[in-house]
Amino acid sequence: MRIILLGGPGAGKGTQAKHLTEKFNIPQISTGDMLRAVCKESTEQGLAIKQAMNSGELVSDEIILQLVKRRIKESDCANGFLFDGFPRTLAQADALVKEEVFIDMVIEIDVSDDEIIRRISGRRVHQPSGRTYHVDFYPPKQPDVDDVTGEQLTQRLDDTEATIRNRLEVYHNQTSPLRQFYEQWSKSDDSNAPGYVKIDGSGSAADTRDALFSALEGDSNNSGAKL
Ligand code: AP5
Repeated sequence: MRIILLGGPGAGKGTQAKHLTEKFNIPQISTGDMLRAVCKESTEQGLAIKQAMNSGELVSDEIILQLVKRRIKESDCANGFLFDGFPRTLAQADALVKEEVFIDMVIEIDVSDDEIIRRISGRRVHQPSGRTYHVDFYPPKQPDVDDVTGEQLTQRLDDTEATIRNRLEVYHNQTSPLRQFYEQWSKSDDSNAPGYVKIDGSGSAADTRDALFSALEGDSNNSGAKL
């Protein structure tokens, strides 16, 4: 099963990815997480990536494609994978087609910009594990402390309000066209076309998960996708 999770910054892709990767027993490939790991290196490339991420701009297609191509060759991807935050430009989507990396299902999580700002500004993360909380919606048992390790939670450097607004603009200008790209392709006769489902992500994380699974069921009944 190869899945693409599409949606604005903070729409809940990472939160929902956990349910899908468990259900299908596939790894989550988050280009954001991969880039944050590269940023820790004090190399020229690491610094350039950090600068782009902290200002809410996209990292170059060249770097992203290099990372993704390498990652999907690893053995845990043999039965599929879930892309979280990739592709983010038409050039990245085209590269997948060119490399004949075909996708079973594209899932769009639809959330309004106002809700996104509320979600991202309240997000807190446990950096070593990637566990994510929200100060109001999913608070840790003790404020600013990870439930599992007792370590301090932090805010991502790109989760400031000014950067969130830029990330939203970048999303609408550069990533949003992918919705049309995949939706139209899914309606074509091409046997390599992915299925496409759009779900309302404005409810709670549990409501979104339920909507996601019923949409996948519905789509598999209609299109014969491998669920
Ligand atoms: P990335 O790390 O991918 O960030 P993003 O797409 O902006 O998405 P987020 O991780 O911020 O949010 P999410 O949708 O996973 O939401 P989450 O589940 O955490 O990318 C960061 C940067 O890296 C980019 O800006 C770019 O610079 C670069 N980059 C990455 N990929 C790239 C690519 N392919 N090409 C070029 N550059 C790339 O939820 C958010 C919060 O809301 C959490 O606190 C959560 O607890 C809460 N929450 C979740 N669901 C709900 C709900 N239903 N109700 C209430 N709260 C909820």
